[in-house]
Amino acid sequence: MTSSPYPLGLRLHGRRVVVVGGGAVATRRVPALLDAGADVLLVAPELTPALRARADAGRLHWVPRRFVPEDLDGAWLVQVAVDDPMAAASVSAVAAERRIFCVRADDRTAATAWTPAVTRHGPVTVAVLGGGDPRRAMTVRDAVRDLLAVRLAPDGIAGRPDASTGTTGGRQAGRVALVGAGPGDPELITVKGWRLLTEADVVVADRLVPGLLLDELRPDVELVDASKIPYGPSRAQEEINQILVDRALAGAFVVRLKGGDPYVFGRGGEELLACAAAGVPVTVVPGVTSSIAAPAAAGIPVTHRGVAHEFTVVSGHLAPDAPASLVRWDALAGLHGTLVVLMGLKNLAAITATLIAHGRSPQTPAAVVQEATTGTQRVLRSTLGEVAADALTAELRPPAVVVVGDVVNALDS
Ligand SMILES: C[S@@+](CC[C@H](N)C(=O)[O-])C[C@H]1O[C@@H](n2cnc3c(N)ncnc32)[C@H](O)[C@@H]1O
Repeated sequence: MTSSPYPLGLRLHGRRVVVVGGGAVATRRVPALLDAGADVLLVAPELTPALRARADAGRLHWVPRRFVPEDLDGAWLVQVAVDDPMAAASVSAVAAERRIFCVRADDRTAATAWTPAVTRHGPVTVAVLGGGDPRRAMTVRDAVRDLLAVRLAPDGIAGRPDASTGTTGGRQAGRVALVGAGPGDPELITVKGWRLLTEADVVVADRLVPGLLLDELRPDVELVDASKIPYGPSRAQEEINQILVDRALAGAFVVRLKGGDPYVFGRGGEELLACAAAGVPVTVVPGVTSSIAAPAAAGIPVTHRGVAHEFTVVSGHLAPDAPASLVRWDALAGLHGTLVVLMGLKNLAAITATLIAHGRSPQTPAAVVQEATTGTQRVLRSTLGEVAADALTAELRPPAVVVVGDVVNALDS
């Protein structure tokens, strides 16, 4: 006779859970147990490298041998993750004798407990059992996860909690999220960034954010195009800060959507400080920065074993001889590793000349990646000595990233 399972949320913090087996199933199950704070005893002659790393880091106890009944001393739960049905049955028999619930990867009908398909959203955990069909459970779980992504409030809010104005209609009101939108491909926003974007009442977007992300906003969302704000760069930034603060204080959930990562030449720090000064809580969601993604999109790894052990990201917005420049181009010329220059197209001739004048070889490989990760991406490969002229001839234009170093040719076969 089959009867319905009785759902429970096990509070495993500090409680002994025995996992028998050290293969793929255990590799999938152990992280959630550790996340729940369980005191994990892993019994297996051998472990996968991922489990081994956790054992080496002292996150679990590993007994490198086969199971013996005494392993269940003090246990609250057992997870049997071995293929051999005889071995699994003998563990379950000991568990049953001791009245310890036992999950079995090899035979769910013989198990006394089942693991559900799970999705977690901040403090909320949803666990789905599919009536004996794990695929059904996962399908339902995925549907619930998508629903929660739209409905649930953002978590991890930083800033002054006392400034929160609560929630309206299930959304977080009176808050700002600085969200990195990634380099251009709309699929390169993070899951969390996307979730907050679908939550927003107001979106303040930069010129470089992927247009398709904006295309998918709800029709009632107020979209502020930050690149259209008049005045010079510093007045415009003040205006943006004011818009973030004003809208949040009026009760809106504001997403400030920025190209790449908010803190890489993104002025995210200034916006956070402005919000904090006004008592508006802010959460920051990092993004995939073009300084790494643009080279990657052109087949250039910013580090490569035996080629480059460092990469330096630098702004080329100011010419090397500009009094306000904070960049030590002479010191950068002495590095062997990879140099990634953002906003450097306009000053490329001066930048490359300065690097060469201070000792970097003109033969050093160099590349320019324009509009990386988009359908209009262009890649130019050259050398430090030639790249400025080549970029002019090719009529490259911003946004573009310049990469200098032997990594440019590292993956050429
Ligand atoms: C103001 S900075 C912002 C950088 C951004 N916060 C990031 O992490 O990628 C703008 C510069 O980033 C670079 N950039 C941004 N998106 C790019 C893309 N899709 N392709 C090439 N370069 C890009 C260009 O150098 C551009 O001038």
